[in-house]
Amino acid sequence: MFIDTHCHLSLEDYENIDSVIQDNRQAGIKCIIISGCTKESIQESLKYADLYEDVYVTIGYHPSEASLTTEADILAFEELLSHKKVIGIGEIGLDYHYGKEDASLQKELFRKQMLLADKHHLPVVIHSRDATEETINILKEFPSVKGDIHCFSGSLETAKQYISMGYYLGIGGVVTFKNSKLFSVIQQIGISSVLLETDSPYLTPEPNRGKQNSSKYIPAIAKCIAEVCDLTIEEVSKITLQNTYRLFDLK
Ligand code: NI
Repeated sequence: MFIDTHCHLSLEDYENIDSVIQDNRQAGIKCIIISGCTKESIQESLKYADLYEDVYVTIGYHPSEASLTTEADILAFEELLSHKKVIGIGEIGLDYHYGKEDASLQKELFRKQMLLADKHHLPVVIHSRDATEETINILKEFPSVKGDIHCFSGSLETAKQYISMGYYLGIGGVVTFKNSKLFSVIQQIGISSVLLETDSPYLTPEPNRGKQNSSKYIPAIAKCIAEVCDLTIEEVSKITLQNTYRLFDLK
């Protein structure tokens, strides 16, 4: 049994949502946590959470939405946090990959959502791209908030820093790519702070790289981690499930 702790599910990417859900179930996926991170995808994600019992959601405005998100959007968003299938806030964070022009807007939006996570006692799912230092500084402003560093791909030192702050590391398809730097990081930190994720429809793991990704490929990621850490796939399943339950308060 596995949980995909971070993926995206939308009719923009998949022809038939129902068959994606059926495929996941057949692949031993206990449940999936969809991230709705734009105004539209938040609504679409909530729709699937209402429709399927094995779908949970985290919602939050992605840093790329920083210049589009108004105060009214934030207020409307806060009301959605009481939905019973909303189990976290995210993905939120900082993305400087395409430049830092809107850095101050990104930081403002990030802090506002961290404040809401603190207020509503919800974990966060963090998107950080080319912005490690500033992400860590903002997370430190909210020491009682815990979360998941989604699609972690940093150094051993960065991994240790996040873990010491009580964060989990979301590990996905990148770990299955040949010569992935993540091999040695995971070997050294072990899996007590690891969550499995696909970030589908992006980043399909080997041996299906190039095809469209979906949560059904989580076992391929678990298998790779098992090999890297010299564990059985059952051990990886058990420990990553426990980590997921603990962070997201799921049973
Ligand atoms: Ni994502």
